[in-house]
Amino acid sequence: MPYISGKAMAQKKKTIIKKKSLKKSKYASSNKPSTDKNILDEIIRVDHAGEYGATRIYDGQIAIFGKDSKIGKTIQHMADQEQEHIEKFNELLIEKRVRPTALLPLWNVAGFALGAGTALMGEKAAMACTVAVEKVIGEHYREQQDLLEEDEKELKKTIAKFEKDELEHHDIGLEHDAENAPGYNIMTKVIEIGCKTAIAISKKI
Ligand SMILES: [Fe+2]
Ligand SMILES: [Fe+2]
Repeated sequence: MPYISGKAMAQKKKTIIKKKSLKKSKYASSNKPSTDKNILDEIIRVDHAGEYGATRIYDGQIAIFGKDSKIGKTIQHMADQEQEHIEKFNELLIEKRVRPTALLPLWNVAGFALGAGTALMGEKAAMACTVAVEKVIGEHYREQQDLLEEDEKELKKTIAKFEKDELEHHDIGLEHDAENAPGYNIMTKVIEIGCKTAIAISKKI
């Protein structure tokens, strides 16, 4: 009897060891989930384009208000953060070997025109433009974080930080009475649609 139970125990031990090594080999052979290269390229291309457009919008607004005016200083704070963002994406384009959008010249002109145009309509309209743009960019950054896998942890962190900055800009817009700009609802809708279209195009072209 003790012999049988000893044998049974040895058998059980063997099974456990086998199971353990199986588990280990399965773990060792499973690679970390990696981000699809096409998705990664699109993310970097479109974010670079968006940040470039953002710097141009604020350039346009500062050109109208002047950087020493009260509103100009507030806008300059946001513009400085956009500058940090674009510099980071400039680095990432090189690091990850991603082609920038071919439409930078268009975003250069369109961004500046949007910034200057809304500033000419007044401070509230300029801030309404910020609310609309930053809302779209903030949401876009949120969605992108779900597309990035473990291998792009650093980029995910960068985008999370930028998302926070964009939402801060959005809130600065609201704090500066954006919602009381004439035609706020229609203006923000049009700008949101424009931004979403620019995003869709800049991913691919
Ligand atoms: Fe930004
Ligand atoms: Fe921003």
